[in-house]
Amino acid sequence: MALMEWSPRLSVKVKKFDDQHKKLVDLVNQLHDAMKAGQGNAALGTTLQSLISYTATHFKDEEQMMQANGYPELAKHKAEHEKLVTQVLDLQKKFQEQAGGGILTMTVMSFLKDWLVNHIQGVDQKYGVFLNAKGIS
Ligand code: FEO
Repeated sequence: MALMEWSPRLSVKVKKFDDQHKKLVDLVNQLHDAMKAGQGNAALGTTLQSLISYTATHFKDEEQMMQANGYPELAKHKAEHEKLVTQVLDLQKKFQEQAGGGILTMTVMSFLKDWLVNHIQGVDQKYGVFLNAKGIS
Protein backbone atom coordinates (compact mmCIF):
# COMPACT_ATOMS: atom_id res chain seq x y z
CA MET A 1 0.00 0.00 0.00
CA ALA A 2 1.22 3.44 -0.87
CA LEU A 3 2.35 5.63 2.01
CA MET A 4 0.46 8.61 0.66
CA GLU A 5 -1.75 9.69 -2.20
CA TRP A 6 -2.13 12.98 -3.97
CA SER A 7 -5.66 14.29 -3.54
CA PRO A 8 -7.48 17.51 -4.51
CA ARG A 9 -6.86 18.70 -0.93
CA LEU A 10 -3.24 19.09 -2.01
CA SER A 11 -4.07 21.07 -5.13
CA VAL A 12 -2.44 24.49 -5.55
CA LYS A 13 -4.70 25.02 -8.58
CA VAL A 14 -1.76 25.53 -10.92
CA LYS A 15 -1.46 22.48 -13.17
CA LYS A 16 2.31 22.53 -13.63
CA PHE A 17 2.88 22.47 -9.88
CA ASP A 18 0.12 19.98 -9.13
CA ASP A 19 1.85 17.68 -11.64
CA GLN A 20 5.21 18.23 -9.95
CA HIS A 21 3.70 17.59 -6.51
CA LYS A 22 2.20 14.34 -7.82
CA LYS A 23 5.67 13.31 -8.94
CA LEU A 24 7.07 14.14 -5.48
CA VAL A 25 4.34 12.02 -3.88
CA ASP A 26 5.33 9.18 -6.25
CA LEU A 27 8.98 9.49 -5.26
CA VAL A 28 8.19 9.43 -1.53
CA ASN A 29 6.06 6.33 -2.18
CA GLN A 30 8.87 4.72 -4.16
CA LEU A 31 11.24 5.28 -1.26
CA HIS A 32 8.68 3.84 1.13
CA ASP A 33 8.15 0.79 -1.10
CA ALA A 34 11.91 0.26 -1.41
CA MET A 35 12.28 0.45 2.36
CA LYS A 36 9.40 -1.98 2.98
CA ALA A 37 10.76 -4.39 0.41
CA GLY A 38 14.10 -4.39 2.21
CA GLN A 39 15.96 -3.19 -0.86
CA GLY A 40 19.69 -2.77 -0.58
CA ASN A 41 21.47 0.45 0.26
CA ALA A 42 22.39 1.18 -3.34
CA ALA A 43 18.75 1.06 -4.47
CA LEU A 44 17.58 3.09 -1.48
CA GLY A 45 20.34 5.64 -2.02
CA THR A 46 19.40 6.04 -5.68
CA THR A 47 15.74 6.58 -4.84
CA LEU A 48 16.60 9.06 -2.09
CA GLN A 49 18.84 10.95 -4.53
CA SER A 50 16.01 11.05 -7.11
CA LEU A 51 13.71 12.57 -4.50
CA ILE A 52 16.32 15.19 -3.54
CA SER A 53 17.11 16.09 -7.16
CA TYR A 54 13.49 16.40 -8.17
CA THR A 55 12.75 18.48 -5.08
CA ALA A 56 15.51 20.92 -6.07
CA THR A 57 14.11 21.21 -9.61
CA HIS A 58 10.61 21.72 -8.28
CA PHE A 59 11.62 24.40 -5.77
CA LYS A 60 13.54 26.26 -8.48
CA ASP A 61 10.53 26.17 -10.83
CA GLU A 62 8.22 27.52 -8.14
CA GLU A 63 10.65 30.27 -7.19
CA GLN A 64 11.04 31.33 -10.83
CA MET A 65 7.26 31.49 -11.30
CA MET A 66 6.84 33.49 -8.08
CA GLN A 67 9.63 35.87 -9.06
CA ALA A 68 8.31 36.38 -12.59
CA ASN A 69 4.93 37.35 -11.16
CA GLY A 70 6.12 39.60 -8.34
CA TYR A 71 4.91 37.35 -5.53
CA PRO A 72 5.34 39.38 -2.33
CA GLU A 73 6.08 36.34 -0.14
CA LEU A 74 8.87 34.97 -2.32
CA ALA A 75 11.63 35.51 0.27
CA LYS A 76 9.65 33.74 2.98
CA HIS A 77 8.81 30.86 0.65
CA LYS A 78 12.43 30.54 -0.45
CA ALA A 79 13.50 30.36 3.20
CA GLU A 80 11.03 27.49 3.71
CA HIS A 81 12.50 25.69 0.71
CA GLU A 82 16.02 26.14 2.04
CA LYS A 83 14.99 24.72 5.40
CA LEU A 84 13.39 21.68 3.75
CA VAL A 85 16.44 21.07 1.55
CA THR A 86 18.70 21.26 4.60
CA GLN A 87 16.53 18.71 6.42
CA VAL A 88 16.50 16.24 3.55
CA LEU A 89 20.25 16.64 2.88
CA ASP A 90 20.84 15.99 6.56
CA LEU A 91 18.80 12.83 6.21
CA GLN A 92 20.90 11.78 3.20
CA LYS A 93 24.10 12.45 5.15
CA LYS A 94 22.90 10.22 8.00
CA PHE A 95 21.92 7.57 5.47
CA GLN A 96 25.42 7.63 3.98
CA GLU A 97 27.20 7.76 7.35
CA GLN A 98 25.24 4.89 8.84
CA ALA A 99 25.84 2.73 5.81
CA GLY A 100 22.32 2.93 4.67
CA GLY A 101 18.94 1.50 5.18
CA GLY A 102 18.78 1.51 8.97
CA ILE A 103 18.05 5.22 9.00
CA LEU A 104 15.06 4.85 6.69
CA THR A 105 12.46 3.95 9.25
CA MET A 106 8.71 4.57 9.28
CA THR A 107 9.44 7.62 11.45
CA VAL A 108 11.55 9.07 8.67
CA MET A 109 8.94 8.20 6.05
CA SER A 110 6.25 9.91 8.13
CA PHE A 111 8.53 12.92 8.42
CA LEU A 112 8.89 13.08 4.60
CA LYS A 113 5.16 12.71 4.12
CA ASP A 114 4.40 15.50 6.61
CA TRP A 115 7.21 17.62 5.13
CA LEU A 116 5.46 17.49 1.77
CA VAL A 117 1.85 17.79 2.92
CA ASN A 118 2.45 20.65 5.36
CA HIS A 119 4.45 22.66 2.86
CA ILE A 120 1.94 22.19 0.04
CA GLN A 121 -1.09 22.91 2.22
CA GLY A 122 0.66 25.86 3.80
CA VAL A 123 2.77 28.19 1.70
CA ASP A 124 2.26 26.49 -1.69
CA GLN A 125 -1.50 26.88 -1.66
CA LYS A 126 -0.98 30.58 -0.84
CA TYR A 127 0.96 31.24 -4.05
CA GLY A 128 -1.74 29.29 -5.90
CA VAL A 129 -4.36 31.84 -4.89
CA PHE A 130 -2.01 34.67 -5.93
CA LEU A 131 -1.20 33.14 -9.33
CA ASN A 132 -4.86 32.26 -10.03
CA ALA A 133 -5.74 35.92 -9.49
CA LYS A 134 -3.19 36.71 -12.22
CA GLY A 135 -4.87 34.26 -14.57
CA ILE A 136 -2.31 31.47 -14.12
CA SER A 137 -3.77 28.04 -13.43
FE1 FEO B 1 5.85 22.84 -3.87
FE2 FEO B 1 7.09 25.30 -2.29
O1 FEO B 1 7.14 23.55 -2.86
